[in-house]
Amino acid sequence: MPGQLSPIDTAKFVAAKRACDYVEDGMRVGLGTGSTAAWLVRCLGEMVREDGLRIVGVPTSTRTAELARQVGIKVTTLDEAKWLDVTIDGADEFDRELNLIKGGGGALLQEKIVATASDQMIVIADKTKQVETLGAFPLPIEVVPFGWQTTKALLEETISSMDVLGEKTSLRMDGEKPYVTDEGNYIVDLHLNRIGNARQLALVVNQIPGVVENGLFIDICDIAIIGHGDGRVEVR
Ligand code: 5RP
Repeated sequence: MPGQLSPIDTAKFVAAKRACDYVEDGMRVGLGTGSTAAWLVRCLGEMVREDGLRIVGVPTSTRTAELARQVGIKVTTLDEAKWLDVTIDGADEFDRELNLIKGGGGALLQEKIVATASDQMIVIADKTKQVETLGAFPLPIEVVPFGWQTTKALLEETISSMDVLGEKTSLRMDGEKPYVTDEGNYIVDLHLNRIGNARQLALVVNQIPGVVENGLFIDICDIAIIGHGDGRVEVR
């Protein structure tokens, strides 16, 4: 374990480390985004440098691409790789069915495309991300900048008729300016508190013109590797 880690970082690290067991020589690996995924990238980099592991990584953000290159992982695009053996990524929330909320780090669009183009998706998370019902974490929706206020208003109208507890929305900011994703879009966060029917919400939200993608990952994740602050790991 790298130095003295806080319980939360220990949990993230041990989950990431265990996920490396699923990566074999010659694999094409989708590399997630966020602090947990960053541990994975560092661990895989060490395996590349020290054990001669040969993998090709498809990063889900410019941040992850930079880190992957720094630690010695060969990086390519999804178009080049075409299909991946496994994608390993973090999550903001996951439930019993391994449905997820993602996009807290703003990379949900590339993350969903990459995960969907993989034989297997593994989520790595600390125990605090596990929930009975999704929705306490604000649901990120990637929207095109053109007409974003109209899209936001339509999102509000839509969620008001859905099985959710909250109806507030907010444009994600980066200081004084809107946060801009790697794809040049904005993010509207939906403060729903509780999502009664995540599958339905995901479908309905994506019908709204201006919405590019939502942060609900339904039936995409196959395995959850859950790290605890005391170093224990659970695999689901
Ligand atoms: C980025 C994501 C991240 O996986 C999610 O926000 C979890 O991040 P962290 O591992 O830092 O808690 O979806 O878009």
